[in-house]
Amino acid sequence: MRSPILCSVLLAAVGSATAQYSLIRNYSGSNFFEGWDFFDGFDNTTNGDVNYLSQANATADNLVSVNSAGHAIIRVDNTTFVPFNFKRNSVKVITHDFFPIGSVFLFDALHLPFGCSVWPSFWTMGQNWPHGGEIDIMEGVNQATSDQMTLHANPGCMQAPNPVQLGKTSGADCSAGANSSVGCTVLETQPNSFGQGFNDNGGGVWAAQFDVSGIFVWFWNRSALPGDISSGSKTIDTSTWGTPSAAWPSSSCNISEFFAPQQLVIDITLCGDFAGQPNIYQETCGGPLGNSSVSICYIDNVINNGTAYNDAFFEIRAVQVFAASGSTPLVADGVSGSSTILAPDTSTGSATGSGSPAGSTSGGAGGSGSTTEQNAAEGMGVQAGVRAGLAMWGATVCAAFIWVLL
Ligand SMILES: *[C@@H]1O[C@H](CO)[C@@H](O)[C@H](O)[C@H]1NC(C)=O
Ligand SMILES: *[C@@H]1O[C@H](CO)[C@@H](O)[C@H](O)[C@H]1NC(C)=O
Ligand SMILES: *[C@@H]1O[C@H](CO)[C@@H](O)[C@H](O)[C@H]1NC(C)=O
Ligand SMILES: *[C@@H]1O[C@H](CO)[C@@H](O)[C@H](O)[C@H]1NC(C)=O
Ligand SMILES: *[C@@H]1O[C@H](CO)[C@@H](O)[C@H](O)[C@H]1NC(C)=O
Ligand SMILES: *[C@@H]1O[C@H](CO)[C@@H](O)[C@H](O)[C@H]1NC(C)=O
Ligand SMILES: *[C@@H]1O[C@H](CO)[C@@H](O)[C@H](O)[C@H]1NC(C)=O
Ligand SMILES: *[C@@H]1O[C@H](CO)[C@@H](O)[C@H](O)[C@H]1NC(C)=O
Ligand SMILES: *[C@@H]1O[C@H](CO)[C@@H](O)[C@H](O)[C@H]1NC(C)=O
Repeated sequence: MRSPILCSVLLAAVGSATAQYSLIRNYSGSNFFEGWDFFDGFDNTTNGDVNYLSQANATADNLVSVNSAGHAIIRVDNTTFVPFNFKRNSVKVITHDFFPIGSVFLFDALHLPFGCSVWPSFWTMGQNWPHGGEIDIMEGVNQATSDQMTLHANPGCMQAPNPVQLGKTSGADCSAGANSSVGCTVLETQPNSFGQGFNDNGGGVWAAQFDVSGIFVWFWNRSALPGDISSGSKTIDTSTWGTPSAAWPSSSCNISEFFAPQQLVIDITLCGDFAGQPNIYQETCGGPLGNSSVSICYIDNVINNGTAYNDAFFEIRAVQVFAASGSTPLVADGVSGSSTILAPDTSTGSATGSGSPAGSTSGGAGGSGSTTEQNAAEGMGVQAGVRAGLAMWGATVCAAFIWVLL
């Protein structure tokens, strides 16, 4: 038990307190969908066989709702007859806000979409893919039974060899070639992290720490949550969480260089570049490999009456964002009709004028995501992120020492 003492000494030396973060966004309950934009159009990034609906259409079609338990439901259309050559309706939501280095993203779900052709994800993205980076926190396809976690970035970002993580690395090059979308993936090895097993087990929680010292993802099933998460605390301490499922330390991927402030994304696509890739589809859904002119994934699931999609829904208790003490939350769109803002945004004095008072709910019209706003946000976020990151450095180095020493 030398490590805590070593840590205290280290922390005293760098003058940093703990790996503590405070809640700044709480997307949950009846306000869950405030603060998200609905991508309206076909899946033009992963070639899935879906049309993502506007908020008005998705709400009218009951693809998004909040259930009587106060949980958000996001689903694939399972009631419409889809003729051959047409796509099926689904949902993709993206936060108005960009969150810089010095953030922790938490995703608490009771049910994940799964089934042949189904490809859900909770992930984050910076601007100008892959320039601003991407963090895939929860992702699975078809009848897979475990989650996979992946970074995508420009060439030069690698996962360090032998990272201290529970999961199993399946690829270390986060760029995997400039034109490949494979990225550096870690496969979850704990049970029940996706599919029927996850759903039958009461779901679970992911947390992703986006830090100057690295990117770290934890997964817990509902009976294994750390105290600060199970108690719904407004402050969390990542140094108490133990070994993460996936770790990409900055030693082989300079996070400040490869990752810009991130937006959070929840979506469900069908088939496409991953679930519909014939070899991957066949792994868990069987059937013939098909041929280049027809996708078995599409033919067997997407078209016709949609009975393949009764389990293709998220039930989400909360998505939350925590910020490092001393770091400033970044609001790309200060009048976003956002979720409850729990801390004043003092980062800017920006042209978009954020700075809602603590505890208030910001209101007003959207107009989010103009190029100017986003560029401004990105610049500010990098600075805020570096400051926050430096403040966090001691604590995270300390946590890394603990993992190594245990
Ligand atoms: C988040 O909001 C929900 C209601 O939407 C509330 O029950 C919960 O306590 C809040 N969480 C925290 C950590 O404040
Ligand atoms: C996808 O469509 C959106 C909205 O039409 C557009 O802004 C975006 O640039 C497109 N992305 C790609 C990769 O084509
Ligand atoms: C969205 O709703 C409008 C108004 O009801 C309707 O005209 C339109 O066809 C819908 N679009 C989709 C993609 O469902
Ligand atoms: C990636 O694609 C671009 C444009 O198609 C091409 O110019 C570039 O050489 C490609 N890079 C690699 C590493 O294949
Ligand atoms: C829940 O997680 C704990 C800790 O990883 C593990 O020991 C336990 O087997 C898991 N339970 C289930 C049902 O997956
Ligand atoms: C990491 O990237 C940042 C931003 O580009 C740069 O300022 C810093 O010097 C880099 N650190 C290392 C160790 O290369
Ligand atoms: C591809 O599969 C489709 C559907 O099974 C079939 O109609 C078509 O003839 C096949 N094409 C070739 C070149 O085998
Ligand atoms: C839906 O389609 C499947 C196969 O195409 C068929 O077996 C089933 O009876 C249909 N269900 C309804 C409610 O039409
Ligand atoms: C669609 O799926 C839901 C469960 O997600 C189920 O309750 C409903 O009956 C399904 N609709 C049809 C038409 O099968």
